[in-house]
Amino acid sequence: MASKIRESLLVSLSAHQDEYLSGEQLAKEAGCSRTAIWKHIEELRKEGITIDSKRKKGYKLMQLSQQDNITETDILLGLQTTSLGRSIHHYDAVESTQKIAHKLAQEHAPEGTLVIAEEQTAGRGRMARSWHSPKGSGIWMSLLLRPELPPQKAPQFTLLTAVALVQAIEDICDVQVEIKWPNDLLINNRKVTGILTELQADSEQIHSLIIGIGMNVNQKQEDFPKELVDIATSLAIEKGSEVSRAAIVQRTMYHLEKYYHLYMEKGFAPIKLLWESYAISIGRHITARTFNGSISGIASGITEEGVLLLEDDQGAVHSIYSADIEI
Ligand code: BTN
Repeated sequence: MASKIRESLLVSLSAHQDEYLSGEQLAKEAGCSRTAIWKHIEELRKEGITIDSKRKKGYKLMQLSQQDNITETDILLGLQTTSLGRSIHHYDAVESTQKIAHKLAQEHAPEGTLVIAEEQTAGRGRMARSWHSPKGSGIWMSLLLRPELPPQKAPQFTLLTAVALVQAIEDICDVQVEIKWPNDLLINNRKVTGILTELQADSEQIHSLIIGIGMNVNQKQEDFPKELVDIATSLAIEKGSEVSRAAIVQRTMYHLEKYYHLYMEKGFAPIKLLWESYAISIGRHITARTFNGSISGIASGITEEGVLLLEDDQGAVHSIYSADIEI
C-alpha cells in the first residue's frame, strides 16, 4: 500500500504532467520535507517511471513504467476518484482477491480498498464455479465498499457495477458491450467480464460488500482453455490491439464512484434505467437454470431489488434471484 507521501506525490505529478513542480511545492502538498520527496522520487525512478528533474524548476513526470505488471503506481497515476481505489493491495499471485478482501474487511480496511492480483490460483466465480485467472493478461480485482444499507440491497450493487464496467470499457476500447443478467458482460455474444458480489452482514445491516471483478483484457483466442474458447473473449480480441489494464481499472473506479454516489443520493431507480438500456435479456425468451431446476419464459424486467422477473408459458411470474441465463 502506498504511503500518504507517495500517494500525494503521484497525484500532484499526474495532475501536472506537462509542467515542472518544485520540491518545495510537492513537499507542502504532501506535508513532508523536501528530502522525503527526493527519496520517494528516487524510488519511483527505480520502479521504471521516468521523472525529469531540473535545477530551480523541480520535477516533471515524463513516462509511466513500461513493465508488464499493473503496478499500484500505474493505477494511482491518473486515478480520478476521491475514495475508490485509493488504497491498493497489489499481489503477483494469490488464491483469490475475494479471500484477501474479506480478510481486509474484517481488519477494518477503509471503504474503497482495492485488492488486485496478476494471477489467481483459485479464482472464484458465481454458483461455486472456478474463474480462470491467468498471469498478466486480465484484471482480477476485488473492491471493498461499506454502504449503510440492509443486506437485501446487495444484489443491486452487481447491477450498478455492471453499468460502471460497460461505460469504462466503452470509454477505453470503443466497442459495444451488453449485459446478460445479472452479471455477465458480453461483446459480440461472448463473455468478457464477470462480477461476484459477496457480503459480510447481519440481518439488518451490510458491514462490507466485496465486489469481485474478473475481466479478460489481453488474452488471444488461443490463450483460453478449450471449455472457454467458444464462449469467452477479451478486450484486445474485440478491439484489435492491446489494452492498458491500468486505464481500465482507473476508468472503472471513476464510474463506480460516480454511480455509487448517485445510488446513495437517489436510490436504485436511475441505475436500473441505465442497466436496462444495456441489458440484452429483457423482453426475450430465455431459460433460467437455477440450483432447483430450469424455467423458460419471457424475461419481463427486473424489480427495484434487481431481481429478474420471468413470465412462463402459463403466465406465472417467477422471481429469479440467482441463475444462469440462456438466450
Ligand atoms: C462470474 O462467475 O461471472 C463471476 C466471476 C468473478 C471473478 C472475479 S476475479 C476477481 C475476484 N476474485 C475471485 O476469486 N473472483 C472474482
